[in-house]
Amino acid sequence: MSQQLSFYVHIPYCAKRCGYCDFNTYTPGELKSGDLDALSSSYIDSTIREIQMASQVVGPAVVPTVFFGGGTPSLLPAAQLARVIGAIRSNFTIEQGVEITLEVNPDSVSRPFLDEIKSVGATRISMGMQSAVGSVLKTLGRTHHPESVGQAVTMARASGFEHVSVDLIYGSPGETMEDWQKSLEYALSLDIDHISAYALIVEKGTKLAAQVNRGELTMPPDDQSADKYLLADELFEAAGFSWYELSNWSKPGGQCRHNIAYWDGSFWWGVGAGAHSYFKGKRWWNVKHPGSYQERISLGQSPESCHEILTPGNLLDEFIMLQMRRREGIMHSRLNSSQLSKAEDFLCSGFLDTASWSDLRLVLNRNGRLIADRIVRELVL
Ligand SMILES: C[S@@+](CC[C@H](N)C(=O)[O-])C[C@H]1O[C@@H](n2cnc3c(N)ncnc32)[C@H](O)[C@@H]1O
Ligand code: SF4
Repeated sequence: MSQQLSFYVHIPYCAKRCGYCDFNTYTPGELKSGDLDALSSSYIDSTIREIQMASQVVGPAVVPTVFFGGGTPSLLPAAQLARVIGAIRSNFTIEQGVEITLEVNPDSVSRPFLDEIKSVGATRISMGMQSAVGSVLKTLGRTHHPESVGQAVTMARASGFEHVSVDLIYGSPGETMEDWQKSLEYALSLDIDHISAYALIVEKGTKLAAQVNRGELTMPPDDQSADKYLLADELFEAAGFSWYELSNWSKPGGQCRHNIAYWDGSFWWGVGAGAHSYFKGKRWWNVKHPGSYQERISLGQSPESCHEILTPGNLLDEFIMLQMRRREGIMHSRLNSSQLSKAEDFLCSGFLDTASWSDLRLVLNRNGRLIADRIVRELVL
């Protein structure tokens, strides 16, 4: 069977930085250029050169998934993103039925953009909704209005996208249980087949972290976030969205194949500033700043900043960490005797699914999912 290689393409631009986000992204002002079209055109030239470099390193490969993430890919002209898809097509074999996802912000998509990106092969839209409550969006520093999510989802469907997902965030300062329920109900009223829901993380160095440190904003207690996770899971499952990873739910056939490739330990190449890659036991990441990234590429150099070689032990630990987050869980045979005995303690304490345990699989139940990080730590340390 020919080898497979997924692509992640990082688009490091946002119209405005959200207060909680520490992703590798820059506003045109931070890059001292108001002209995003010119910026993006030369950035995309560099990503295309990197795709050519990838084909020299990897050789022939079939591409099952491509994911444009950010930043805000929908800020770029669709024609620029189309050039990247074209470069992948001409350097590799695109699998029939390939999944090509685009992350978009609700207020930076238009019908012509969606039509154009669909016509060059995109198959899936992942939209940053976060909340349906105006005050929560304001605290997070989002630029869109709650109703723009519904309008953008309707446009994506009208453009012919079969797969549409929304991202939600719970546990924002000031978000009540009623606010969260409103966001869940709004998300479930949309014509979508996938939902991700993440607890808000206060990342060091962000505006949110400074506001929390100064006492201007207060993070909700952990048990409230647990209640919010449980409410989400209950409403999603009742609406036909099944969990397939701790923070991801989908209708049948709506799972994100690109994320599954990461979790399965498949090979992927991350193209662009700061992007991470994994190929044959080596993991590496590119220089972070788009300027340094483009400079390296223009000199014909690899944009790699650092790398690590993963030992079989590292790979097994990672497999356990990622697999524990998934509904399939882990076969007992993949665990050593000490891990199995720790797992048995969690079974007795009511954190594992008993039917799966009888089938020799370790699968978290709802309560277990709430303390997944602790269970994983105890198993791999
Ligand atoms: C980095 S964004 C890129 C896509 C797009 N710009 C957006 O905002 O949806 C991908 C997802 O990460 C989430 N995210 C970023 N920082 C986060 C944090 N500190 N805690 C939880 N989710 C976060 C965003 O809200 C978004 O849904
Ligand atoms: S959450 Fe999305 S829109 Fe906001 S700064 Fe991060 S990448 Fe940009």
